[in-house]
Amino acid sequence: MSELNNYLEEVNAGLDPVLRTLVENAVAPRLTEAVKWSLFGGGKRFRPALVCASGEAFGVQREKLLRTSAAFEMIHTYSLIHDDLPAMDDDDLRRGRATCHVKFDEATAILAGDALQSLAFTAIADDQSIDFSVRVAIIRELSSAATKMVEGQQLDLDSEGSVSGIEQLRQIHRHKTGAMIVAAVRAGALVGGATEEELSIMTRYGDSIGLLFQITDDLLDVTGTTEQLGKTAGKDAVAEKTTYPALLGLDGSRDEARRVHTDALSALASLSRKTKVLTLLADFIMSRSS
Ligand code: IPE
Ligand code: IPE
Ligand code: MG
Ligand code: MG
Ligand code: MG
Repeated sequence: MSELNNYLEEVNAGLDPVLRTLVENAVAPRLTEAVKWSLFGGGKRFRPALVCASGEAFGVQREKLLRTSAAFEMIHTYSLIHDDLPAMDDDDLRRGRATCHVKFDEATAILAGDALQSLAFTAIADDQSIDFSVRVAIIRELSSAATKMVEGQQLDLDSEGSVSGIEQLRQIHRHKTGAMIVAAVRAGALVGGATEEELSIMTRYGDSIGLLFQITDDLLDVTGTTEQLGKTAGKDAVAEKTTYPALLGLDGSRDEARRVHTDALSALASLSRKTKVLTLLADFIMSRSS
């Protein structure tokens, strides 16, 4: 197994019981079932890995990063449940299984997303392993990223069927996907007591891999299979989404992916911390784009 796979498995092993405790019996039984259906339906758990890798780069023990990691995964999962709704991308497959609204019903899926969102903030507020002021700072990071995410989702929907330029596309991607990735990176660093200068380096790294992540997601929608992705391939073109491949073609998108990957690594190079896993995470996203 590769070093990164090993790392992702380790993070998952720590994260899973924390997530289970946070959602078990948290809301009415059918709603809890819907939350668990989406939260434990696979998924790369990439944002938790980023929180952990970032915190660990600043010398924090994994244990202290797990609730924050769980909160990011909860907000992310809520965003996917809502993204799949008929009113949005109208998808019936997610993480290799039926989407929440298909398995349950639309109202339950909306509420499962809502529940995950508020439970995420409770998880951080109640994290007694972290100082009060740091908890507030993380809640601020996560809440403003979640706000940017929904703004990005609106921009994404508004741009369906319209031709836009690269700057507008970057704007959509930075909001709908990048903001949560930047915040995950910054949250780990905040737990680790990073300085302003270090935080700004981590922000540059997060911004670059955030773009890389969505370029890759757009590419895979064209080049991947439904089976590989665990979600229906080829949907972006049908919905006339504004994507990198639609704007730049496959080769142009891969060039852009290489460029932002290089930006991510050069940000890390200016940080005198243990950045190995953060490098591997950037490489991992890059490798998915080819
Ligand atoms: C999919 O996110 C939605 C995007 C922001 C591109 P992921 O690719 O991280 O989905 P999971 O969590 O692994 O299912
Ligand atoms: C979704 O982007 C981003 C968020 C959920 C915020 P996409 O619509 O491209 O994600 P997939 O492809 O459905 O996973
Ligand atoms: Mg979408
Ligand atoms: Mg979608
Ligand atoms: Mg997509």
